[in-house]
Amino acid sequence: MNLSGKKILIAVSGGIAAYKINLLIRDLVKKGAEVQILMTPSAEQFVSKLTLSVLSKNPVYSDFYDQNGTWNNHVEFALWADVIIMAPCTANTLGKMVHGICDNLVIATYMSARCPVFIVPAMDLEMYQHPSTKQNLEIAEDFGHFIIPAESGELASGLVGQGRMAEPETIARTIEDFFTTSSSKNLVGKTVLITAGPTYEAIDPVRFIGNHSSGKMGFALAEEAAKRGASVILISGPSAEKVVHENIELFRINTAKEMFDEVFRHYENSDIAIASAAVADYAPKETATEKIKKSGNSLTIELVKNPDILATMGERKTHQFLVGFALETQNEEENAAGKLQKKNLDMIVLNSLRDQGAGFRGDTNKIKILTSTEKQEFSLKSKDEVAKDILNFVEIKILK
Ligand code: C5P
Repeated sequence: MNLSGKKILIAVSGGIAAYKINLLIRDLVKKGAEVQILMTPSAEQFVSKLTLSVLSKNPVYSDFYDQNGTWNNHVEFALWADVIIMAPCTANTLGKMVHGICDNLVIATYMSARCPVFIVPAMDLEMYQHPSTKQNLEIAEDFGHFIIPAESGELASGLVGQGRMAEPETIARTIEDFFTTSSSKNLVGKTVLITAGPTYEAIDPVRFIGNHSSGKMGFALAEEAAKRGASVILISGPSAEKVVHENIELFRINTAKEMFDEVFRHYENSDIAIASAAVADYAPKETATEKIKKSGNSLTIELVKNPDILATMGERKTHQFLVGFALETQNEEENAAGKLQKKNLDMIVLNSLRDQGAGFRGDTNKIKILTSTEKQEFSLKSKDEVAKDILNFVEIKILK
């Protein structure tokens, strides 16, 4: 599995297994994760900060303050992380976690966290068997933390038995499985409203103003959200795409005005709204009732502005997580960031017509996601994969 976009904080405590964290970091970074290392002061005796920093591509912290007096904000670390891995987790650190003995940066960060926590104990045979360790692990499980149990084998002391830290690949696999299975159910109980496709603005009974949008991106988002357990309301302009999943209720409309009315029948009850439709900005002021006859060398059609559905969703936002799309040809990021703010969005997905394979009709897309504080760029992928990236991002935001 791809861990791209996942923010993983590893808290290293002082055990001999700390040297194996280098392999874990390398593996997670290779899979696309962003990794931040914190360590307890005693962990510094076992593994070099420099090595951990080079591998994780981030500075490593072990104290509340830097040498130059800068405060290392434990709350920021805690809120940044999508998961925290306590590895290796010594008997001492485990005991502090369970009893709230907050005397170092690692424990302060752990106690400030809202995200899932994985504990990977590593200690000597007798320590692992000690009633206090057993009890502490049980309490940690009751807190809702996940334990990746110690493995059996030769220990640093020369004794043989259970206590060795789980191998880095076991830890990485557990984290990957967690993201896979959790993402498959994360939207249960949520209603997701999606607009898709073009709108057709009638000039007369046979002609219209439209655009090349296929609706593929919106339909892919609807399928993916439904697979993750959401109830999906999909409001689409003319599109050849079909709905497969039974959790999707499809409303087909033609014009921007019809899309507007349908959207606001459902908006109030939605938790997440994603506007991927390419709505026509203007519509003919009047629609001729009969086919317009050919006459003269030119024809003027007066256009009037359509309602901006997404901007209105932004104005009427109460609790919804609101996602817009931007298709730009110049000053892309700047324009997208402008729309994010102007339309009161939580997130905007930028696709550029400049990127080959991105955009309207194809099966692939290349996106950047912007929020008011973050930016993430993705490679060219199928629209199904892009839908996963977008919903992974949304989930991380709404589930925090
Ligand atoms: O302002 P612009 O049209 O570039 O913004 C694009 C975003 O706004 C898309 O998410 C699109 O679905 C939405 N939009 C809308 N109603 C309009 C125009 C755009 O919902 N009339």
